[in-house]
Amino acid sequence: MPRGRGSLFLKAADLRVRPLPRAETIPSAWYTDPQFHDLDLDAVFARTWQYVADVRQLASPGDHVVTDVARQPIIVVCGKDGRLRAFFNVCRHRGGPLALKDGNADMLICKYHGWTYRLDGMLRGVPHFDRAELFDKRDYGLTSVPLALWEGLVFVNLAQRPQPIEHYFHGVRERIAPTRLGALQFARRVDYDVQANWKVYVDNYLEGYHIPYVHPELLKLYADYQSYRTEVSDWYSVQVGPLQQERNVYTAGGGEALYYQIFPNLMLNVVPGRLQSNVVIPVAADRCKVIFRYYYDDVTSAPARERIEADVAFSDKVQREDAEICERVQQGLGSRAYDKGRFSVRFEEGVYHFQKLLKHAYRAWLKR
Ligand code: FES
Ligand SMILES: [Fe+2]
Repeated sequence: MPRGRGSLFLKAADLRVRPLPRAETIPSAWYTDPQFHDLDLDAVFARTWQYVADVRQLASPGDHVVTDVARQPIIVVCGKDGRLRAFFNVCRHRGGPLALKDGNADMLICKYHGWTYRLDGMLRGVPHFDRAELFDKRDYGLTSVPLALWEGLVFVNLAQRPQPIEHYFHGVRERIAPTRLGALQFARRVDYDVQANWKVYVDNYLEGYHIPYVHPELLKLYADYQSYRTEVSDWYSVQVGPLQQERNVYTAGGGEALYYQIFPNLMLNVVPGRLQSNVVIPVAADRCKVIFRYYYDDVTSAPARERIEADVAFSDKVQREDAEICERVQQGLGSRAYDKGRFSVRFEEGVYHFQKLLKHAYRAWLKR
């Protein structure tokens, strides 16, 4: 995106952060204008840790996962040494792809003319290249991308020298204990297409304000709606809902539900013995994809399988309610009647916090 153009559409007044009781929500153009879709990819998604795979998908040497982050093709590979590495899925010859889908291979062989790379990214085989001059294979290894693991989740970051991942998840592991996310087993993945900007989906996730209106069934799960609260950390916020015994399939012992939103697009929904992760991927200004993954402490016993079915079905119902309201809100944001709104101090601190981090990311982009 041309920088001069960027500073024209990004108004200084809109980037200002006011205290929550006085703050306005971000302008509607940020949700509807394709320039902001491009900006989000560049200023946010190319600068943050993005969750791309589970370690279980990369357990054996040669296992690889193909994905893209902020329109960049990425491949994550398990090496002969068992180490995970991420590269641009782009051949150094003329830009061909090394793999088109997830799989296992001894070598990464470009699909265009067959240049062959080792699993550690070194270029090894170059067919019919003996007459090229001043050519050293060592100069043409794959371009690597920073990779990090957190509790069995694999992340990549397109920034050159990103902050360590622990910085973003500070305190999460301790708060969730004794449930250990890395020890849970994968059960199911469900993808949803939502006709709304990714930020509409995140905003909606971040507040319980809408629960009585959008999810009347979900409301019954909370022992006391009024004790529902939001806690804010540097890079995430967490909504805490005390659960009513026996109502939820996964909380026979009561306890708390913890709904983490880690900037910019990852959610971890934790109840004892269960994790549901959501990743929100921007597709266009008015479209996003949401990937749900379910993990449990027991995925094999008959009663566990029954509980999983009930859990997934219930989440699916709630998700459909959320997707529907998000799609309506996207239409509202595109209306000439609306530009900015205000926040409930009691219930929308998480939304305010997310929008503050977004402004911070836009400001950092302008400085660059
Ligand atoms: S582009 Fe990869 S071998 Fe030609
Ligand atoms: Fe909701």
